[in-house]
Amino acid sequence: MTDLLEPRAIGRDLARRDGVAKVRGTATYAFETPVEHPAYAHPVQATVARGRVTAVDTSAAEALDGVLVVLTPSTAERLASTDDAELAVLQTDEVGFRGQLVGVVVAETSELARQAADLVRVAYEERQHDSVLSVDRDDLYAPEQVNAGHETDTAEGDVGAAMASAAVALERTYSTAMYHNNPLEPHATTALWDPAAEVPLTLWDSTQGVHPDRATVCRVLGLEERQVRVVCPYIGGGFGSKGTPHANVVLAAMAARALPGRPVKLALTRQQMFSLAGYRTPTIQQVQLAADRSGRLSAIAIDVVEQTSRIKEFAEQTGVPTRMMYASPNRRTTHRLAALDVPVPSWMRAPGECPGMFGPEVALDELADELGLDPVDLRIRNEPEVDPETGKPWSSRHLVECLREGAQRFGWADRPAPRHRDGAWLVGTGVASSVYPTMRQATSTARIRYADGRYVAEIGAADLGTGTWTTLPQVAADALGVDVDDVEVRIGDTEYPIASVAGGSSGLNTWGSALVVAAREFRGKFGRRPEDGDEATGDVDQAAQDEDHAAYAFGAQFVEARVHADTGEVRVPRLLGVFACGRIVNPRTARSQFVGGMTMGLSMALHENSVWDPQVGQVANHDLAEYHVTVNADVGDVQAHWLDEHDPYVNAMGSKGIGEIGIVGTAAAVVNAVHRATGVRVRDLPVTLDKLLTGLD
Ligand code: MOS
Repeated sequence: MTDLLEPRAIGRDLARRDGVAKVRGTATYAFETPVEHPAYAHPVQATVARGRVTAVDTSAAEALDGVLVVLTPSTAERLASTDDAELAVLQTDEVGFRGQLVGVVVAETSELARQAADLVRVAYEERQHDSVLSVDRDDLYAPEQVNAGHETDTAEGDVGAAMASAAVALERTYSTAMYHNNPLEPHATTALWDPAAEVPLTLWDSTQGVHPDRATVCRVLGLEERQVRVVCPYIGGGFGSKGTPHANVVLAAMAARALPGRPVKLALTRQQMFSLAGYRTPTIQQVQLAADRSGRLSAIAIDVVEQTSRIKEFAEQTGVPTRMMYASPNRRTTHRLAALDVPVPSWMRAPGECPGMFGPEVALDELADELGLDPVDLRIRNEPEVDPETGKPWSSRHLVECLREGAQRFGWADRPAPRHRDGAWLVGTGVASSVYPTMRQATSTARIRYADGRYVAEIGAADLGTGTWTTLPQVAADALGVDVDDVEVRIGDTEYPIASVAGGSSGLNTWGSALVVAAREFRGKFGRRPEDGDEATGDVDQAAQDEDHAAYAFGAQFVEARVHADTGEVRVPRLLGVFACGRIVNPRTARSQFVGGMTMGLSMALHENSVWDPQVGQVANHDLAEYHVTVNADVGDVQAHWLDEHDPYVNAMGSKGIGEIGIVGTAAAVVNAVHRATGVRVRDLPVTLDKLLTGLD
């Protein structure tokens, strides 16, 4: 990559193009898709955590007037591929976790489907289940690799020797909880199987990627891609849980195929989402740091233990950010998994980086305490000149500038002394770093057509609330050299050219890159005076992808915490982040991502916690009444700022991706602030008052 686009539309604070439709309620989400005479599906879920279905009695369900179809493992169609056990819906009698699908009822109304699903009698041969994660399990194993294709373990030098000889050596265990993505819109699909139609299967599915969704459905059902259309113009949030299709999508398609010509709607209930839509694995992180008296690290190590489901491996890359954040001659990262009788973990905002920046960023605060150093200075002292693991230079790295500007904006220099008291409240401030890799996917194509005096760009991209509807026209306008109002962008349909998933904060980087190439093609072919119907396409230019630099977005987050001296109640009146994420395409939608990510990070720090019941083998608090998320009353002043960063290496826009970095580091900064306020170091999330009370006097 070389020349950045001349920013005219890029960088403008434009309102969301889809905002009006959303506010008026005219934006149609998957379940609301207007279709003729829909039927409704309701899943039947396993009520044992491990075992085998021995008999299913559907007679009471089928006897209900209005019940159309009941599918069970013995009556459901045979799928073409059962390689992915999560998606091999109703293909075996085996039960791998409580809540796994064992049937589905389709009926004239959703209420009837639900009632009938309750009447399906399933008998099980129950086996003992094992669902408790711990570091001393004797069956922990090293996966072949961890997610995103990273090595499972890395090592350089001798961490043990460095720990033994260092002026200060610190070894601590931290843990993060199990978290469930809870987008407002549940996982939902409207499915139509019309065998006589040219495209027999249509899925209006809430997904972060219509093309990847279709590819998976085709593989599982044994269909050609031309036989399936996936449509998704709007998404009510996903956070990764809609980044890859889960069992509900396959179930919806199977239900529709059992009722040719009849559209079938299936929306998971909030409770069902807790076993079927993925979650972030709990992690246990053993962190080691060694340093000299000036704070220069001589060793940094993280050994991660986390879980996956026995039926399918998902290896969160929790140790990966430790490989590149700070300089140190001796380094080690490892990942070990326990395969348990639990639902299948999956993607959740900043997989890897989010949990993986918790332990190390708290450990650095503990080290700063031991050394009597400012935690901002400690981080700056360990700034690596090049990527420590690969030796590559940074495409751009402004972590130090983020820390300095954040400190200045936050008023860090005047931070209250430890255990500062303001009336009944103990007040403290904390800091942590943020990071997220800058990615671009290989496959995406954009098509630009001239029609009625406007440029229409089509690409199967997704807007999961992030702003794609608004930001892609900005990129296309600058690439074409026209006013943004003269560009219309259409997304969210496999009828448009292939697009990558909205994941890994790579959406705009990827789709924008394709748009830039398409615009160049268009101008090359038709010049500046095109005629109606002129059309050009462009793919992501893989040959131009820079491989010589380590590309990451960075940030620094500052937190003020107040802890009630008598009750231990924690309040966070101030969150302030400064980010270096390359060029910001739209400040309004970008701010929304940063602030949203930071708020979700606060939520992770104080509130969210999927409480696992090891007896029953399920999440006990599996609804929004008891799974607490940070709400308005919990959030004070949240500020997101960014540096004017120019990165010529990442892509034509110079953008680094902003959807995930906001959640990275927040929880560590909260823990560090709470420690400053109270003297109590909480090493296992969330920070609840019971963990503080005994330390308050
Ligand atoms: Mo994001 S968890 O990469 O969809």
